[in-house]
Amino acid sequence: MNKKFYVTTPIYYATAKPHLGTLYSTVLADIAARWNKIQGKEVFFLTGTDEFGKKIAQAAEEVNQDPKAFVSKFIPAYKDLWKKYEIDYSHFMRTTDEYHVKAVQKWLEDLEKKGDIYKGAYEGWYCTPCETYLTAKDDSLHPQYYQEAEKKPECESCQRETQWMSEPCYMFKLSAYQDKLLKFYEDNPNFITPKERFAEVVSFVKSGLQDLSISRTTLSWGVPFPNDSEHVTYVWADALNNYITGIGYNQEGKEEAFNKWWPADMQVLGKDIVRFHAVFWPAFLMASDLPLPKKLLVHGWIKMGDHKMSKSRGNSVDPQELYKIYGPDSVRYYLARQLSIAQDGQFTVKDLEQKITSDLANDLGNLLQRMVSLATKNKVMEVTPGAWSDEEQGLQEHAQDMIEAFKREMERGYYHMALSHLWKFINAVNAYFHACQPWKLAKTEPERFMMVMSATCHSLHTIAVMLWPVMPEKMLELTKRLGCTFEINGDKVSALVDGKWDKSFTLVTGDSLFVKPEPRKEEEQQEESKESYITIEDFIKVDLRVGTIKECVDVEKSDRLLKSQVDLGPELGMRQIFSGIKKWYAPEDLIGKQVVVVVNLKPRKMMGEESQGMITLADSDDGKPTLISPIIPLPNGAKLK
Ligand code: ME8
Ligand code: MG
Repeated sequence: MNKKFYVTTPIYYATAKPHLGTLYSTVLADIAARWNKIQGKEVFFLTGTDEFGKKIAQAAEEVNQDPKAFVSKFIPAYKDLWKKYEIDYSHFMRTTDEYHVKAVQKWLEDLEKKGDIYKGAYEGWYCTPCETYLTAKDDSLHPQYYQEAEKKPECESCQRETQWMSEPCYMFKLSAYQDKLLKFYEDNPNFITPKERFAEVVSFVKSGLQDLSISRTTLSWGVPFPNDSEHVTYVWADALNNYITGIGYNQEGKEEAFNKWWPADMQVLGKDIVRFHAVFWPAFLMASDLPLPKKLLVHGWIKMGDHKMSKSRGNSVDPQELYKIYGPDSVRYYLARQLSIAQDGQFTVKDLEQKITSDLANDLGNLLQRMVSLATKNKVMEVTPGAWSDEEQGLQEHAQDMIEAFKREMERGYYHMALSHLWKFINAVNAYFHACQPWKLAKTEPERFMMVMSATCHSLHTIAVMLWPVMPEKMLELTKRLGCTFEINGDKVSALVDGKWDKSFTLVTGDSLFVKPEPRKEEEQQEESKESYITIEDFIKVDLRVGTIKECVDVEKSDRLLKSQVDLGPELGMRQIFSGIKKWYAPEDLIGKQVVVVVNLKPRKMMGEESQGMITLADSDDGKPTLISPIIPLPNGAKLK
């Protein structure tokens, strides 16, 4: 049996602190690491941050900081969050670390010697947030086309605008690997989970691979290209290599460690970066004569409304807040259970709370609590095994089947399915406990009472071991309450499969394992459902028009107000509108300006006269609101949409 397990997460762009999406990948990797640990394997778990490239350089420049100082600010936030969420990584990788930079340079030199890198040039549309050129070979991608159309093409992955870039660069002979990649995919049908993502990758490679530009001259923030100081390494070419440099590749004295851990057994990533990991990365490894990772676990996106939750969109949920309210294990459980690998999922606090209440507090926590309080009441804290009846044997068989199904789904990477099998078992134990009515047996049939208690304890012990990878802290607590210790040695899962139900337990009283979230007040729930989204119908309700300020006078009795007459075109005519902007604007500043007006706002009495709408303004940095004008003059009454 394979005695080692090497798992990785993507290295995250250190442009902000981590969010729930980042946590999701990291939790999945941690669950895989722990799941392998309790099967007696030696585990290496690599995570870290991606710190070079245009995206980082730009973000640092915006705040006038040196890029290294800029990224370094975020590292403690990552490490702190991982610690809070029990992420037991072996090494935190930073691509600006010297060992990585040197190892990447050596890798490039080797590839150049082998003839896999040549000097050329590249031009195309570049997406900075994704750090990638668009790949479509469509004529319509030519810059001329978009200049005429006055629009730039969107990134295929994140739908943001791209920029035209053209530069001399070093090219990697990706095209030479097309057939080898296709052969590899064919020979390794489990390389990518889920199958949907695998199919997309295969069809992308079949459609033809172009060589890949792997250096930049328009940027200085990157791994310096060996023997050519004009160039820095393309960020993805350096970043993907973290998976091997992080365990010793191209570092003197680390050969043994590298050979021990590589190839990776599982690489976790989101579907946004599948092409880099399933095409470029294997090709790089083939070029270096290294074996390929055994499995890529590619999950979907956590979305907020229609969009992927992301740092750059600023629509992210802060896991620190969730940690404070719900604790790490509930959130870990939710991420593993609620979101299925193959699909995108929505995050809502309501769903999270509902899962905590129903699955954790009601199904699991209550089972323990009911059993322990029954034991306390009857002063039977020492629970010993006995001769099983059919019911207990049935329960034990269910446990065996559950373990098999759980294992199968975990190996596939379908954690939510594994948990669903486990929960069926938890429900079966609940049903068994309830049907046996041990509260009656305690008085009438003490032996049978003991049997029910013992079967329940054995079931809970099995549950604690199987669930530990997902909820380490809570499952340690559960084991303690059964009077057991939890040591990581040997294959605990096989021990459960092979073992008889012959353990003795010493029950320990204590608080409920999971706290039910307080039912939230009606207004709060409404507040949440309103959240940050409105529908298009809501938007259409607001009638926004362009108008010209024809007259404007100071309202003498007010220290805030100016009164304007705004021409809103033939349909709406002239409107009188008050605005509280005297502090910043004199009437002369406004006369003749085109502005945007909300015309269907309910009229209001101001200073004894009617204000028939609202002139829109936007906040500026210095606190002075600025009028919103069209960038070209428009007919009065033009509608905004
Ligand atoms: O792409 N839902 O870094 P990144 C699910 N540096 N997962 C999400 C997510 C969401 N809303 N948002 C982010 C990069 N993720 C590169 C990687 S690897 C050699 C270099 C997770 O900071 C998911 O794993 O943009 C996604 O693939 C990754 O964070 C992207 O993180
Ligand atoms: Mg990203």
